[in-house]
Amino acid sequence: MEEANVFEWLETSAPAEYIRHSHLLYPIIEIIHIVGFVFLVGSVLLFDFRLLGISKKIPVTDLARHLLPWSRRSLLLVIPSGFILFMTQATSLAANRVFGIKLILILLAFANAGYFHRYTSRDISSWNHLQPSPPAARAAGIISILLWTGVITCGRFLAYLE
Ligand code: HEM
Repeated sequence: MEEANVFEWLETSAPAEYIRHSHLLYPIIEIIHIVGFVFLVGSVLLFDFRLLGISKKIPVTDLARHLLPWSRRSLLLVIPSGFILFMTQATSLAANRVFGIKLILILLAFANAGYFHRYTSRDISSWNHLQPSPPAARAAGIISILLWTGVITCGRFLAYLE
């Protein structure tokens, strides 16, 4: 199946038609999306602020153990709900530049988090508690804040820009 046909097939599928014809389902799924990204971006930003030096009394590893499971669980709400919302208007969203930018920013945000956990946090024992974070950790925090703010901005603008 060609790419364009996949989007057409998704948009005309029975579940997508059903949601489009229901008054309540779309906003309900949107609420699930919003609750999901509140947990995701909320937990991620609190961790980013810690990397920037806020609440140094809490060891970075303790905060990570507390917050990161919430970030992971939230994906179970955000990604399926986002995909269902996408299905209902797949052809126009697939051609929408803002939607493309949003997906790229999400991938970059995951890559930034992956890099931090794999490389930057290797020597965490030397700055885990009451110490300033090294520049690479602070940079990871700032990049994360900017990328997630960008994702939310694109998500909100989807309704207004083609
Ligand atoms: C992972 C983090 C994500 C964040 C922070 C996020 C953020 C947002 C925001 C702020 C909105 C606007 C909500 C509103 O105005 O009521 C939105 C809507 C939407 N998102 Fe996401 N989103 C994420 C992931 C995804 C994914 C993975 C997809 C698709 C596969 C997706 C598809 C959509 C769609 C289709 C809409 C509805 C646009 C509309 O109705 O105008 N989102 N998102």
